[in-house]
Amino acid sequence: MRAVSSLLLLVALPAVLAVKTEDFKTCSQQAFCRRGRALSERAEKDPLWKSPYSVVASSVVIDSDHASFAAAVKSSLYPEIKFGLDVKVHEDGVVRVKMDEVDGLRKRYDEAASWALVKEPKINPNIKWTVGKQDIRASVGGADDVEIVVAFEPLKVTLFRNGKEQVVLNGLGLLHMEHFRTKDAPKEPEVGEDGTQVVLETPNPRAWFEGDEEDGYWEETWRSWTDSKPKGPESLSLDISFPNHGHVYGIPQHATRLSLPTTAGENSYYDEPYRLWNSDVFEYLADSTMSLYGSIPVLYAHNAESTVGIFNAISSDTYIDVAHPDTKSSFTHWVSESGILDVFILPGPTPADIFKQFGNLVGNPALPAHWSLGYHQCRWNYVSSEDVRSVQKRFDEEDIPVDVFWLDIEYAEDHKYFIWDKKTFPDPVEMTNDVSANARKMVVIVDPHLKRVTSYPVYKEAVELDVLSKTKDNNEYEGWCWSGSSAWVDFFNPKSWDWWKGLFKTTQSKNGKYAWTDSTSDVHIWNDMNEPSIFNGPEISMPRDNIHYGGWEHRDVHNINGMLFSNQTWQALKARTDPPQRPFVLTRSFYAGSQRFGAMWTGDNLGTWEHMAVGIKMVLANNLAGFSFSGSDVGGFFGNPDPEMLARWYQAGIFSPFFRAHAHIDTKRREPYLLDEPYKSIVKDAIRLRYNMLPVWYTAFREASTTGLPVIRPHFVVFPQDESAFAIDDQFFIGSSGLLVKPVTEKGATKASVYLPGNQPWYDYFTHRIHAGASKGRTVDVVAELHQIPLFIRGGSIIATKERPRRSSPLMKFDPYTLRVALDQDQSAQGELYVDDGVTFSHEKGQFVWRSLKAQKQGETIKLSSHDLASTNLAVAVDGAALTKYNPSNNFAKTIESVRIEEIVILGLASKPSRVIAGKEQLEWDFYPGVAASAKEDGAPSQLFIKNPVSSISQDWEISIDL
Ligand SMILES: *[C@@H]1O[C@H](CO)[C@@H](O)[C@H](O)[C@H]1NC(C)=O
Repeated sequence: MRAVSSLLLLVALPAVLAVKTEDFKTCSQQAFCRRGRALSERAEKDPLWKSPYSVVASSVVIDSDHASFAAAVKSSLYPEIKFGLDVKVHEDGVVRVKMDEVDGLRKRYDEAASWALVKEPKINPNIKWTVGKQDIRASVGGADDVEIVVAFEPLKVTLFRNGKEQVVLNGLGLLHMEHFRTKDAPKEPEVGEDGTQVVLETPNPRAWFEGDEEDGYWEETWRSWTDSKPKGPESLSLDISFPNHGHVYGIPQHATRLSLPTTAGENSYYDEPYRLWNSDVFEYLADSTMSLYGSIPVLYAHNAESTVGIFNAISSDTYIDVAHPDTKSSFTHWVSESGILDVFILPGPTPADIFKQFGNLVGNPALPAHWSLGYHQCRWNYVSSEDVRSVQKRFDEEDIPVDVFWLDIEYAEDHKYFIWDKKTFPDPVEMTNDVSANARKMVVIVDPHLKRVTSYPVYKEAVELDVLSKTKDNNEYEGWCWSGSSAWVDFFNPKSWDWWKGLFKTTQSKNGKYAWTDSTSDVHIWNDMNEPSIFNGPEISMPRDNIHYGGWEHRDVHNINGMLFSNQTWQALKARTDPPQRPFVLTRSFYAGSQRFGAMWTGDNLGTWEHMAVGIKMVLANNLAGFSFSGSDVGGFFGNPDPEMLARWYQAGIFSPFFRAHAHIDTKRREPYLLDEPYKSIVKDAIRLRYNMLPVWYTAFREASTTGLPVIRPHFVVFPQDESAFAIDDQFFIGSSGLLVKPVTEKGATKASVYLPGNQPWYDYFTHRIHAGASKGRTVDVVAELHQIPLFIRGGSIIATKERPRRSSPLMKFDPYTLRVALDQDQSAQGELYVDDGVTFSHEKGQFVWRSLKAQKQGETIKLSSHDLASTNLAVAVDGAALTKYNPSNNFAKTIESVRIEEIVILGLASKPSRVIAGKEQLEWDFYPGVAASAKEDGAPSQLFIKNPVSSISQDWEISIDL
């Protein structure tokens, strides 16, 4: 282990860390990873290293659509083995590179992309491939001059922009697709006449590439588990370089920094490669490359002029080494246990382009139910219906808003999900109705393991339908989980889908199958343990040689498994009511595409400052990888955070797209109302701030759901040219709102140092104090006593909030808005507001309000106005471009016609206005002189408060401020 990390470990271990690292394999404990890394070491030592793979030039066939070509590939090591290459260019410039073994002894797993992709991508009909002697190339971009070049010998795929290399596959010659072979009888060592072993004259001619021995080809034993590996070696190694890009981001989920630290090369930060193998890691480390609960194999590379990326659609165990051969370039090496090569090259060139390109592939995040952006109160466990009622009562007595109460596994009799434990929850429907009476919801847990008792109807029906996971010998797989001896639904089997839907119906179905009749449509679902987590399985999961539907081994599909489960739950909740309501499903395990089916959280974190801090980075990484609706358990799952830590954690948690507090069964109760003052008020203020800002969050989610842009964004996304901030990952922006927050994650902090980028002024959200714009960003020290959150509005932004505290978010529906107009140096500003009913899918049919808010200087007048955005942006108004027309006075808009703006605050006006009017009407206003937005000094800005200026949020309006 590297020096830095072992030092950290030594300091931290005795106090809190108890991860059992020995429960999980390292690279050197797995043959395929050892083989991959050894290949890379041999290549590094050999200056003449050359990839044995080449394209057979004469075999190139350009498809009639011109967008793709196919060619044969051969390896000089195994001339008799055939490989096929297939390269396609999509409409948006994404290049898909696929390679598979042809006519092999078996078929490699090739379905990862089909689960991840939201639909078959459209291909670009205007591509012209030019076949030369040494390569085949095509121009794929417009003005940017993007070119894709496939070199024949050795095989190398390069994306160029303006003649410069951006992404290179197999540039270092580490591509190796181990072909299927038969297990030869072990060779007897040849013995000479004198009885000594004969030294072969020609040593293994493939050793320079593959190494001398067959390392773990046919069977592997680790601790007490033996993996039978009936298919033999089939790993895939590939190097992907990003010349001229000094930072790489992505490949969640790891507890690490956002700009990924190195794992290889000189002085690497870590020794172990990043691993993607969805795992239930007990008390995970706060700084590690260990695999966690989910995997999204997307990686972005960035520099001041360019952002590019790759999505490697692979679902088997994968290790990724990251290195920077020089400070300006990045190199990655991917080693996977099985699967085909199926890499999508995202050409960028901007961060926004990358997110759009990735969203086009795997789908944008679903627009969540509005209530699910409120506060979620969870604990393992609220032990009875009475417990739930009294927790609700305490929240109401203290006027702390909350939208959702959660039930962990103890609600279910013997952990048989869908079956209430009637001793403790005798009246589940009445309990839920008591919660819904305050416009709140319940979320209860449903895990994928089914208790193996025939008296459990869900298990019994699964057996009858034959939809349970199978062992390598095709018997029902039995493992150990919360419910004791358990079986696992195999969601790869489509037969399980309709059945699963039926389970969530709240009325008895005609087919006599089990339905959850003692639940209501206000009960939403938490899918946990779906890696799957299996207490007595290898690495706390399923044996790799288990067989799924279609005959695939578990090793092939492991990382997709959790996504299929949350998808089916999502589909089930959607089918539960007619018309459908937006489901809420929380998943622990995930893959690329999971963002279409709900939210995720970062699993079982610890109540430590380190975990609080790294949780923010993990959520940011997830946002970059398309899965914006994510959060970390506030307070930490394990341990008893002291009141200061808890207060800071709430202040951080309210800036997480998914905001939930949760706690382990062994922890002390820590609901916010239990805190003493001043902590209780600090936490209450933080939660109320979350609710004030729900319009901002919902608007950001709308944008994410149609553009793929993350809900929370690190600096490089918002200021892609500001190199000084590429590695900053402890402060971030909320959507396109112009809000920048730096949660305090240090014990005893009373101030914070915040980097304010760009050249515009920044305003403190609470005091409105202005930090004058600098030409190229500046760092300021601000006070951050325990009750203070460093939160800033960028000059040029308009923020819409709702400032009246309510018990839950639906009760805020008709509350008036407040606008904060933070002027920029030109006395202008803009913002957006999106509103819909928050629960149905009627927004997809045009039932919503989407407004542009603007302040513009015209002569000596500042015009403040609102106009409809949807009519002129139909294509991006809702996801999937399904909308063909839009009526600004649609039925939904009418329902909020009476919702007014109660106050507008304008910050940084250049001078006192002479009058403020809306049409002919004089408005009521107060002006407090102060620093103007264009000033070069810090201080209290000028503030103009306009009272009750606008009577309807859903209609056009204009206000003139004459200076
Ligand atoms: C989600 O479920 C639907 C059917 O309910 C299925 O058609 C689709 O392929 C599934 N997608 C994933 C990623 O599981």
